[in-house]
Amino acid sequence: MRVAMIGSGYVGLVSGACFADFGHEVVCVDVNAQRIADLKKGIIPIYEPGLDRLVADNVAANRLSFTTDLNEAVPTAEAVFIAVGTPERRGDGHADLRYVQEAAREIARAMAGYTVVVNKSTVPVGTGDMVEGIIREARPEAEFSVVSNPEFLREGAAIEDFKRPDRVVVGANDERAKQVMAELYRPLSLNAAPVLFTDRRTAELTKYAANAFLATKITFINEIADLCEEVGADVQLVARGIGMDKRIGPKFLNAGPGYGGSCFPKDTKALMRSAQDYGVAMRIVESVVAVNDARKTAMARKVVKACGGSVQGKTIAVLGLTFKPNTDDMRDSPAISIIGALQRAGARIRAFDPVGMEQAKKELTDVAYATDAYDCAHGADALVLITEWDAFRALDLARLKQRMAAPVVVDLRNVYRAEEMARHGFDYVRVGGRPHLASTGRSKPVG
Ligand code: NAI
Repeated sequence: MRVAMIGSGYVGLVSGACFADFGHEVVCVDVNAQRIADLKKGIIPIYEPGLDRLVADNVAANRLSFTTDLNEAVPTAEAVFIAVGTPERRGDGHADLRYVQEAAREIARAMAGYTVVVNKSTVPVGTGDMVEGIIREARPEAEFSVVSNPEFLREGAAIEDFKRPDRVVVGANDERAKQVMAELYRPLSLNAAPVLFTDRRTAELTKYAANAFLATKITFINEIADLCEEVGADVQLVARGIGMDKRIGPKFLNAGPGYGGSCFPKDTKALMRSAQDYGVAMRIVESVVAVNDARKTAMARKVVKACGGSVQGKTIAVLGLTFKPNTDDMRDSPAISIIGALQRAGARIRAFDPVGMEQAKKELTDVAYATDAYDCAHGADALVLITEWDAFRALDLARLKQRMAAPVVVDLRNVYRAEEMARHGFDYVRVGGRPHLASTGRSKPVG
């Protein structure tokens, strides 16, 4: 089948490359001319494991190409995907749909013959109707259907997620469009991935509901972690204990600095706002948003406390800046708020991230960047682990300690073993468990 992908970012590029790998003929379009010029030269604009190889193989096989010109992609395509950004609208928390609207107008101008317009961007309920309205108004005679096909891939594991998804959700209001979508995803049946067909509005809401639920799970365990610290329990074992219950499940129960990233923060807010428009108060989601926001400053306070009550004039080493490992995505990363709060409290920040530093430079000011974890720790009064890149898991602790001015480690992802940290003489503070304070030779008394 011939596919046009409008928007070649994290979702569009991965989806386009994977569809091409399934044997479809895919043209990826983007308004960002630099991005398309890079892609044509084989330069991948984002960090996603395995993507460079996948793109190169499919370009070589003539199944994948790139353009800034919709007219090279849309007229011959049977399915045209909209995979543009839907960021938070400034001021009110709604999803900003201007890129979707613009894409719809451009598709309307370029399309020829029966076309299925597939919205893959995460959007509020009713956006499919809006896209249909835009196209119908511009091209009253056109033959087309608008379908919702939200994307559930995770950055960092995007190719695997796209090719072996837990499920694909397709919201189609007519049989003809449904058949095109079934054909498009037919290769997935080899991977035993179920395709759930729904109406369009249900598919749109399913995506927001999924993200809000996952954000709730994270926020729930974070609150349990706070209680664990006070009562002397261990949140990692609590999470294991509840996660073994099949009704709960083990995923998304890692206590940490609060969720961030390009999806959960904006999607929870957009769900809340659009529900308000319909007169429905989503009190659970509202609480999740508020609790998660407050958590970032709470994490900064945790660092200040670990430093003896003040970070004024102190150097804080930060390991990990991206919102999670295996991506260079800094959008709404917890590191941004935590670093900002520490700077306001007078700290100097020295940071290292394996791939995110170029993106981080656009988001953070007055940060010194290190060449590796040990360089980052050099002269630091405390080291804070914010993102759990694998490269930080097996650090030489003796070497790390020797570099630091004071042996204080605040582990916001619980990747280190408390006993080992204590053995190396660190004051070790984690999330949802007792701190181990080598300086006093004992765990902090609790209760
Ligand atoms: P992104 O910002 O990485 O990519 C969007 C791309 O669309 C940009 O390259 C931009 O230049 C391009 N674009 C904007 N308007 C255009 C137009 N009129 N014509 C052609 N190109 C245009 O965004 P990302 O992360 O790929 O997200 C896209 C959508 O997918 C969002 O709605 C997001 O919520 C959703 N999503 C994102 C996931 C993620 O992990 N990043 C996962 C699941 C869904």
